[in-house]
Amino acid sequence: MQLCVALDLQSAKENLALASSLSEYDIWMKVGFRSYIRDGREFIDELKKINPNFKIFLDLKLYDIPNTMADAAEEIAQIGVDMFNIHASAGEVAMKMVMDRLSSIEDRPLVLAVTALTSFDENNFQSIYGASIDQKAEQFAKMSYANGLDGIVCSTFESKAIKEVTSDKFLTLCPGIRPFGEDAGDQQRVATLELAKVEKVDFPVIGRPIYKDPDPVAKVEKILEKL
Ligand code: C5P
Repeated sequence: MQLCVALDLQSAKENLALASSLSEYDIWMKVGFRSYIRDGREFIDELKKINPNFKIFLDLKLYDIPNTMADAAEEIAQIGVDMFNIHASAGEVAMKMVMDRLSSIEDRPLVLAVTALTSFDENNFQSIYGASIDQKAEQFAKMSYANGLDGIVCSTFESKAIKEVTSDKFLTLCPGIRPFGEDAGDQQRVATLELAKVEKVDFPVIGRPIYKDPDPVAKVEKILEKL
């Protein structure tokens, strides 16, 4: 398991301060929509300056027509991030085009697909996708695997089942982890690190339990010991 810290603080300055405090650890940093829209590519460069070994996951969840997604994927690869994601519901043609476009790039970033957003409840999900979250998550996972993606974003509770219908090597990245039973905040279904281990999660994504802790460094150390 590789820890991925969500840099969800309110400003670039605060996010960089958090990253600096964690500079001695070779961990993943998740850069999301808000941060990337506001702070852009320079922010990624700053993170790499703090620790060139930080791995960076650009969480932009691409969803567009296949050609536009492939263009975006190519641009993302130029930024030098290590992983990014797309929406599985963008479809197989989009998946294929993205992976084809990246195939000639040396050290291409890993590509994950988002199955179901965790903010959906069963009814809302059903009204859009016409199937249950579990059914679609499995179908999206198989489709992503068949089209050469590296893994998916899913809930911890689905990780093992998804590996069973794809491959043990198919990566799972799971938000909603509360390592030591911390406050769930707005997350609906939260899991501990113990469960993440049982479920063979590759990347536990942890935000608030780290950056809201009075001592984020000690918290990260405690988490790394557990991993
Ligand atoms: O603070 P917390 O640990 O809940 O942060 C989880 C991170 O994972 C946030 O950046 C959130 O946007 C992201 N995320 C999520 N659920 C998804 C996809 C991403 O919580 N399905």
